[in-house]
Amino acid sequence: MRTLNLTPLAREVLQKRYLARNYRGETIETPADLFDRVAWTVAEADRLFDAGAAVGETAARFESAMTSLEFLPNSPCLMNAGRPLGQLAACFVLPVEDNLESIFQSLKDAALIHRTGGGTGFSFGRLRPTGDTIFPASGVTGGPVSFIRLFDSATHLIDRNRIRPGANMGVLHVSHPDIETFITAKRDHGLLRNFNLSVSLDDHFIDCVRADRDYPLVHPRTGAIVKHRSGVALLQLMAESAWATGDPGILFIDRINRANPTPEQGLLEATNPCGEQPLLPHESCTLGSINLTRMLNGTTLDTGKLESTAHLAVHFLDNVVEVNRHPTAQTEEWSRMNRKIGLGVMGFADMLILMGIPYQSRQAVELAESIMSCIQRAAEDASAELAARRGNFPAFHRSVFPARGVKRRRNATLTTVAPTGTISILAGVSSSVEPVFAFDGQRRIAGERYTDLHPIYARYRREGRPIDKTIFQTAWDVSPHWHLKIQAAFQKYTDNAVSKTVNLPETITAEKIRDLFMDAAGMDLKGVTVYRDQSHPDQILSACSLK
Ligand code: CDP
Repeated sequence: MRTLNLTPLAREVLQKRYLARNYRGETIETPADLFDRVAWTVAEADRLFDAGAAVGETAARFESAMTSLEFLPNSPCLMNAGRPLGQLAACFVLPVEDNLESIFQSLKDAALIHRTGGGTGFSFGRLRPTGDTIFPASGVTGGPVSFIRLFDSATHLIDRNRIRPGANMGVLHVSHPDIETFITAKRDHGLLRNFNLSVSLDDHFIDCVRADRDYPLVHPRTGAIVKHRSGVALLQLMAESAWATGDPGILFIDRINRANPTPEQGLLEATNPCGEQPLLPHESCTLGSINLTRMLNGTTLDTGKLESTAHLAVHFLDNVVEVNRHPTAQTEEWSRMNRKIGLGVMGFADMLILMGIPYQSRQAVELAESIMSCIQRAAEDASAELAARRGNFPAFHRSVFPARGVKRRRNATLTTVAPTGTISILAGVSSSVEPVFAFDGQRRIAGERYTDLHPIYARYRREGRPIDKTIFQTAWDVSPHWHLKIQAAFQKYTDNAVSKTVNLPETITAEKIRDLFMDAAGMDLKGVTVYRDQSHPDQILSACSLK
């Protein structure tokens, strides 16, 4: 068996949150046992398609990819595979229709999902606006934001029994009459702590901002225009709230739907909590990420290794769809119909440091594109191979693929760049495609503080090597526009979306954030999220620029 090369922080996080426990709360496995449990549970799916499958060999390959920290699946898979819950997906979207049955059904379904460590996203855009009449009770509704508060409280209650904080995404289309209340809903710190909020912007809204025209707000039930608002003023309000709290984020919803692989099944209206995974109501998605620092041969990218790792990861994630035990019958039905998976990356910034490339550079953008196009191509090949043996995803013939000449595809989507908030800690690398936040700082994981010295930085210091400030850049050393350029480079070859936060200096103005939103609208991005330094009282990742 391989020796596990885990950092002390990774061991601590595994011990506190991932390792299986008995009913007395005692840990009953080691980190090596955990990877063994996950590898075998996921590999077992091979037998469903081939009674004589060499499951042991597959399990060994999955285990090797995880223990070498080359690939890790999302947290619920590590926590729950082969355990009583058996729910392995990180991302869900649930419908919210304009009636109490639907609202409370989704509230219940969300509770069942949160219990398993999954996150939920909702579009609240179908709910009638504040003050609208409720039949037959002849009362008036409190509008979408009042229901978001209800969902938030429920999540908070369930959290008391859990080790992974419950996360939600609330989406509202910019044309909803309650949009201003929504945009400002988190201005008081401490409100809606279990929710990220995103405003869906359509192309027409962007055109209105560009031309400084009014934009119509529409009653979601009747379709009537109820008022007009200046597009620029609405975007300014979003920028002011984002300046104050980081919320709302922006979704470019028309662009998201232009990439919808199954438009016949409906519009994509919401994403998972961190925004990287648009899904149809009741769909789920399992994510997994390749550790890019392990894809180097010396200081050059080993594309052969990247391809074979991506290939194996698609096999792994497709098996996860098969063995996942779903919280509801509908999530099972929808998730199996489209079999969406989301393979992404982590450790991009660390890889750049190891290669001696500044994050803010053309070279980094080019590398990002070549990495993600390599993964996307390998994932398409792997999905086609799986389809040849296991069949296309059931809704394939109603998807966009046949018209594009694609003959085989096991999964409606293949790639997603997730935030890798916890799995990057397990791998001991920078998260996702983000620059390093601090080379010498503190982190908060599930409410607890951890001191964290960046491993490569620490090694350089130990070895007395010079710290080149152009290479050791923090998130705040990278200009906002370059954050977007790296995001766009990854998005170019990603089926779903790219999780990315544009870190901004404390002194930035709301007007500059508004300009940044429009900058993002002009690029091929599916969304944008900003965070202004020190704008959150709980901020823990202290920016410790070397400049
Ligand atoms: O690193 P890890 O696998 O724990 O997760 P991540 O990449 O940081 O987040 C991926 C997705 O997991 C998020 O977009 C959410 O859908 C979900 N998530 C959640 O439900 N609750 C959390 N506390 C963190 C993430």
